[in-house]
Amino acid sequence: MDTIKAIMTRRSIRRFEQRGIEDSKIETLLRAAMQAPSGHNHQPWHLIVITERTILSAIPEFHAYAKMLHEAPAAIMVCGDTRIEESIEYINTDCSAATENLLLAAHDLGLGAVWLGIYPRERRVQEIRRLLDIPHHIIPIALVALGYAAEDMHPEDRFRPERVHRNRWTGAGS
Ligand SMILES: Cc1cc2nc3c(=O)[nH]c(=O)nc-3n(C[C@H](O)[C@H](O)[C@H](O)COP(=O)(O)O)c2cc1C
Repeated sequence: MDTIKAIMTRRSIRRFEQRGIEDSKIETLLRAAMQAPSGHNHQPWHLIVITERTILSAIPEFHAYAKMLHEAPAAIMVCGDTRIEESIEYINTDCSAATENLLLAAHDLGLGAVWLGIYPRERRVQEIRRLLDIPHHIIPIALVALGYAAEDMHPEDRFRPERVHRNRWTGAGS
C-alpha cells in the first residue's frame, strides 16, 4: 500500500478475530514505531508487547474505553523514558509520532488497530504502571490494541478547506 493510501484509509478497529498476530508482523510494527521522528532525535520510547490474555482483559477494568481488549489478541504499550528525554511534553509528542507510525504500519500489514489514550489520565497511568511493572522513570503514553479486524470501517473524508490558511490567518474567526 502506498503511504497516502494508508493515511487516507486507516480507521480505528475495535472488533477483532481471535487469531494471533505473526511474530514477523509484530517486529515490523515495532520497527515502524521506532522509525518515528523525535525531538533532538532522542528516541525516548520503550514498547511493551502484551499478548497474555489475563493482562489484556485486566485493562478494561480501569479504562472504560478499552473494552475491545477483551477480544484483541495483542496490544503494544508505547512508553517514554524520562532519563532519555526529561521534557514530558517532548515525550508525549515523540511517543505520539511513534504511535501513529504503528497504526499506519498495522493498516498496511492488513491488521486492525486502535489508539487507547493513557497519558495524561492519572488513574490510567497509575494502573497500567502497576499492571505492567513499569518503573517510575518510564511514562506509559499510548496503548494500541491490535489484531485481525472483525469489522469493516469505511474511510472518512475529513478535509476542511476553511481550516486552511495561506500565509497568514484568513477567513472566519479572525
Ligand atoms: C489521544 C487519543 C486517544 C484515544 N483514546 C481512545 C480510547 O481510549 N478508546 C478508543 O476506543 N479510541 C480511542 N482513540 C481513537 C479515536 O476515538 C479515533 O481515532 C477517532 O474517533 C477517529 O476515528 P478513526 O481512528 O477511525 O479515524 C483515541 C485516539 C487518540 C488520538
